[in-house]
Amino acid sequence: MKRLSVLFVCLGNICRSPAAEAIFLDLIDQKGLKDRFIVDSAGTGSWHVGKKADYRMREAAIQRNINILSRARKIDETDFEKFNFIIAMDNSNFDNILKMKNRLNSTTDYAKILKMQDFSSEFQEKEVPDPYFGGEEGFQYVLDILSDSVRGFLKSIS
Ligand code: 4NP
Repeated sequence: MKRLSVLFVCLGNICRSPAAEAIFLDLIDQKGLKDRFIVDSAGTGSWHVGKKADYRMREAAIQRNINILSRARKIDETDFEKFNFIIAMDNSNFDNILKMKNRLNSTTDYAKILKMQDFSSEFQEKEVPDPYFGGEEGFQYVLDILSDSVRGFLKSIS
């Protein structure tokens, strides 16, 4: 069976999207679905390329037994052909991803571009808030939101 591929995208690829990637991997592992997916994350910006996720996010995730192992990279044009789903953390990421996609002029069947928060059932936030300039509690809050929304995403494609 062909595996479904999912790319989570935020601005820096060091806080929200690596956390979404790790939480989704953990969820599909728990459900015995790991072999059915290819999962990755990327940023729309390139400032942090090659770096581990922000230590505050890694530490917040470890408290939930989630290991964030990814290294930051920037989204590129080939991602639109490689992935079935590209999931943006906020509206600005979403708009930038759409702009990138609209600059491509091939007839290939491209990734569906989605917003993470459209899959949340427990939170009223319209976007996954950027925790980078805030305090510790912001990182836990992002993990709460992501745990809810990746679950909703998985349900939507099951
Ligand atoms: P992320 O958070 O998009 O969730 O990875 C940010 C990381 C870094 C910066 C902004 C947001 N920054 O300005 O460097």
